[in-house]
Amino acid sequence: MRSLDRSGAIYYPGAVKSSAPASRVRLEHSVTTILLLPADGASAVREAMTNRGSSSAKHSIAHRGASAYAPEHTLEAYELAIEQGADFIEPDLQITRDGVLVCLHDLTLERTTNVAEVFRDRYREEDVRGRQLRRWYVSDFDLVELHRLDAGSWFDNRFAGARVPTLEETIEIARGRAGIYPETKAPEVYGHLGFAMERLLIEVLERYALARVDNHARTPVVIQSFSAESLQILRSELESELPLVYLVSEADESLSAKGLAKVATFATGLGPDKRLLLEDPDLAERAHEAGLSVVPWTFRSDDPGAFADVREEMAYFLYDMGVDALFTNNPDLFPR
Ligand code: G3P
Ligand code: CA
Repeated sequence: MRSLDRSGAIYYPGAVKSSAPASRVRLEHSVTTILLLPADGASAVREAMTNRGSSSAKHSIAHRGASAYAPEHTLEAYELAIEQGADFIEPDLQITRDGVLVCLHDLTLERTTNVAEVFRDRYREEDVRGRQLRRWYVSDFDLVELHRLDAGSWFDNRFAGARVPTLEETIEIARGRAGIYPETKAPEVYGHLGFAMERLLIEVLERYALARVDNHARTPVVIQSFSAESLQILRSELESELPLVYLVSEADESLSAKGLAKVATFATGLGPDKRLLLEDPDLAERAHEAGLSVVPWTFRSDDPGAFADVREEMAYFLYDMGVDALFTNNPDLFPR
């Protein structure tokens, strides 16, 4: 396993974290591996078409937009990410009561909007470990109701009035400027409500001529999900040819050589929690051997782990560990 030289000692991911000061940390990657993505994004398309990206380009995916600086999943956060040079923006998907795909991380609205003020009585009460909690589910609201919500003030008053965007609005922002990395969030929950999230997604992409890779010259699309079933529906039932990334948050059988070979039957990439790569130094190599690209998450300036800062952390994963792309809240700090 390639190592990061920390305070003169060889550092193996997964070993006890070093407290070496930043000035003593030396990255060993070669500048010859650092090439820029062409402005038209064409290399993103070519590499997204293959299971594994070549070493010639590494891609930044703006996690929930440039969410270190602007409220997550707002057009403001997506716009800023594109201005900061993100190769892709990442919308998580939820579905409104009237069947519209919107961009939001949570199934519910109360963390990132003022829904509790605007729709005071429209909650469901849930028992969570003995505590009664009020939850305002996206699927209980029509799009026109969602548009009344302020999705920016919780983050900073400067963003007051920012809205929960639809996927279509997000595509309008990105089209011709950056790629899109939509995540089917909790598709099984929406399935129980009668919505087929995967089909809705493909329908929207078709409307913008983005459902086929040969149309992706300036706006590549990669779909990701924690649900293997969701990706299998996209690949087999809907016959989507788009690159698909399987997200993993815990070490399990899917990360063995045999498990990864199975993942490669329905996905083109593996999206592990970055912790899994540190705990299992051979994982990136095993995934590559299975023909999968490796796209870990989430790199954020407010938690760079044992690294001096998030830029250094991202450089280590990209150029020492050899991952192909990564999700970051700080696309401006992505090391190219
Ligand atoms: O989709 C990759 C990463 O975003 C997964 O975490 O919870 O932020 O969607 P989450
Ligand atoms: Ca996500």
